[in-house]
Amino acid sequence: MKRLLILAMNIILVIPCAFNQDQNPRLQWWQEARFGMFIHFGIYSIPGRGEWVRSVERISNEEYQPYVDEFNPYDYNPEEWATLAKSAGMKYAVMTAKHHDGFCLFNSELTDYKSNNSPIGRDLIKEYVNAFRDRGLKVGFYYSIIDWHHYDYPKYDDPFHPMRGNKKFKDEKINWERYLEYMHGQVRELMTNYGKIDILWLDFSYGNMKGEKWKARELVDMIRKLQPEIILNNRLSGSGGDHSYSEALGDFITPEQSIPDNPLLDTGGDPVPWETCLTLNNNWGYNKTDQNWKSPELIVHTLVNCVSKGGNLLLNVGPDARGNIPDESKEILQQVGKWMAKNSESIYGCGMAAALEKPDWGRITQKGNKLYLHVMYPLIGPVKLHGYRDRIERVRFVSTGSEAPATDEWWGSPESEGYIFINMDKPIHETFQWHDPWDTVIEITLNE
Ligand code: GLC
Repeated sequence: MKRLLILAMNIILVIPCAFNQDQNPRLQWWQEARFGMFIHFGIYSIPGRGEWVRSVERISNEEYQPYVDEFNPYDYNPEEWATLAKSAGMKYAVMTAKHHDGFCLFNSELTDYKSNNSPIGRDLIKEYVNAFRDRGLKVGFYYSIIDWHHYDYPKYDDPFHPMRGNKKFKDEKINWERYLEYMHGQVRELMTNYGKIDILWLDFSYGNMKGEKWKARELVDMIRKLQPEIILNNRLSGSGGDHSYSEALGDFITPEQSIPDNPLLDTGGDPVPWETCLTLNNNWGYNKTDQNWKSPELIVHTLVNCVSKGGNLLLNVGPDARGNIPDESKEILQQVGKWMAKNSESIYGCGMAAALEKPDWGRITQKGNKLYLHVMYPLIGPVKLHGYRDRIERVRFVSTGSEAPATDEWWGSPESEGYIFINMDKPIHETFQWHDPWDTVIEITLNE
């Protein structure tokens, strides 16, 4: 059903529902959830220079092997991670079952290159699934369709492989079909051995390594057969910088380290489901020198930004080689959780308030007949809202449930016509403090 009319001038009108939930019923829980935890964990936490370390430093399988032989994250405790995710207000998680380095955190029958064979000697994915599921979080797997360890993956001519341009691999014979069998086989294992899985996050396509090169349709058919309700990202046909979308190959788009300027729409003008994935510093995998942490305020603003454009936020943690999420990440998530504990109703189940443009003072989200005004920035004068004056039932601060001082006049100005005004400067009495740190949310209930 067509819900949006796009007018020239970049104004979006909604008819009449806040966001499109009924297009793909599989996505409904996910669009309500809005906020999830991404976990990049693997061998690369030992060198501690990010998960691309093998590619960046052109490290061979042999040179990487000592790390594999050493991998023993004895503090690994996914219960703690799940508790942290929950306390931050996250509703789902996606964890690396295998990254580009090819090392598996699950007990694959198809390889020896797995955590069961490292000193830790366990199926870490199984423990993750149980811990997160037990705590009521939805569970997803990240699985790299690229593999820098597998013999049959292209090397010399590949733009990213650690052995790219290395003459030793120039004339080697690889068997691509055999790689596909391996990759499809591992996806089958992940879709079979861990009960119901909510999200499969495949990563990634580039150049001619996309779509049918991966035998994508066959793969998707298998996934859908084994896990009929699973939702699937779009990277069988694209990457994080790529907003193209083939519904046959995935359910949602994955902007990486960026937020679209506007809600993403398909050519027919219908909203396309999307999820920004974002690091807390500048690395996905653990990086011991990267101290470029984002503030909790920026994370709250980012989450609201995504939701106000109909998107989700998948926020990353990169545990260290002992299996601990860095203290800085924990601290940020706990702070975000404090804001969420008071204000999450302006996030869960919300989407864009498409009839309203972005205001100077922040952003607006909407859920049915509720508008949520997120007042994020200092402002001159009151918060103003146009076009709803005759429909307002009540105006409340979300974090306290208390009445917000709304009036329909500002200095008796005739320009007041059609506006309501909420004066954020004027406390009702001395001790009353309504400003939340980072984002004060005002809920406006409209009569239908
Ligand atoms: C990219 C990177 C990768 C990271 C991912 C997260 O595709 O290759 O290291 O896992 O994006 O979006």
